[in-house]
Amino acid sequence: MSRTASVLYTLCFFGALCLAPPVFATDDTPGEDAGTETPLRLKLGGNDYETYCASCHGVSGRGDGPVAEFLALTPADLTQLSRKNGGRFPAERVAQIIDGRQDVRIHGTRDMPVWGDWFDVEAESPGLRASEREMVVQERIKALLVYLETIQVK
Ligand code: HEC
Repeated sequence: MSRTASVLYTLCFFGALCLAPPVFATDDTPGEDAGTETPLRLKLGGNDYETYCASCHGVSGRGDGPVAEFLALTPADLTQLSRKNGGRFPAERVAQIIDGRQDVRIHGTRDMPVWGDWFDVEAESPGLRASEREMVVQERIKALLVYLETIQVK
């Protein structure tokens, strides 16, 4: 992503934060989302999914992206996350896997990129504090969760 694009991306998040502070201030899980933030997150999450995830996990999320055949491990079928968790979307676990920073510290390297680090680098822009960058990272992960929850098979 170009520098301008990434700054725009950051501003887009903080624009949303400014427009809807009560909504974004809550530490909600996707299942409990109600109201205005969901469509915005869904759109951002869908965009990020297409850009960063579909190459391995496939456009449909079934783990059949064009890069999959070159990996040692098969990318997971992301439409089965709820089904494999007794019908409930495991938001917290999925967020940790996507983020990856904690995971990699404990388990070492993995086939999937560490998106927490990647989003942090992308969030870098002049004058933004580390805590604000972290908010951008968390928002992007939340947006991905909202999107992923919509592709779960029943
Ligand atoms: C380079 C290929 C690649 C990309 C790109 C990729 N993944 Fe993965 N992903 C994998 C592989 C391989 C696994 C399974 C093995 C592992 O844990 O490394 C996996 C596992 C996962 C899991 C765990 C599923 C489970 O049932 O435990 C989730 C969730 C996930 N990916 C989400 C994402 C999201 C969201 C993105 C985009 C931000 C993404 N992945 C991008 C390769 C990729």
